[in-house]
Amino acid sequence: MITSSIVAVDGTAASGKGTLASRIAQHLNFAYLDTGILYRAVGYSVIKNGHKFDTQTAAIDAARELKIENLKNIDLRSEEIGRAASIAASIPLVRKTLIAFQKKFASAPPNEKLGAVLDGRDIGTVICPDADWKIYVDADICVRARRRVKELRERGVDAIYSRILRNMRERDTRDMSRSISPLAPAKDAFVLDTTFLDADSAFAIALDYISS
Ligand code: DC
Repeated sequence: MITSSIVAVDGTAASGKGTLASRIAQHLNFAYLDTGILYRAVGYSVIKNGHKFDTQTAAIDAARELKIENLKNIDLRSEEIGRAASIAASIPLVRKTLIAFQKKFASAPPNEKLGAVLDGRDIGTVICPDADWKIYVDADICVRARRRVKELRERGVDAIYSRILRNMRERDTRDMSRSISPLAPAKDAFVLDTTFLDADSAFAIALDYISS
């Protein structure tokens, strides 16, 4: 039986984990899944349909009805949707509903790829605890907030640093303190602090870890 090789990349918002994970996937010719998109799609669906999070039903239904192929043309990268995703991700039944898709992607990657790179918050701890490589990416929160402001401004979105920093702090706290699958490095993760690293340097260090 051929088993897929798995790289699990977890970490905080705007730590650089998404860029890193997709570069690793490209380099290794592995399939890539940004699992945050699944939670963002659930958050988007709740907001778009005018629902609220005070009852959990709308988010749970959205997770159950999620069709990955419907996500392609929707911009899910806004701060508002990031916040909604983080709230949706704290609902145990939402997480439970999304587990099977992620596990299947990891064990049987699409397009006959021999491996998969998944990035998120609980890949190394819950989705793929036996991953071949685990990387936990983090950076100082002020640096992350500055990166997010830059990214938003480059996309033509008005972004105020103090507000982005506040949102990020709120999101970190929620993601790290929820009752189910809280964001934390797996015990056997390689921790990569990107505070003083650009994308190329972070990639080089991650490749060293993978090849060692
Ligand atoms: O990585 P991101 O910013 O796109 O993720 C959006 C939110 O989704 C994040 O604040 C927490 C949640 N998330 C999660 O709980 N577990 C994952 N594996 C991925 C994302």
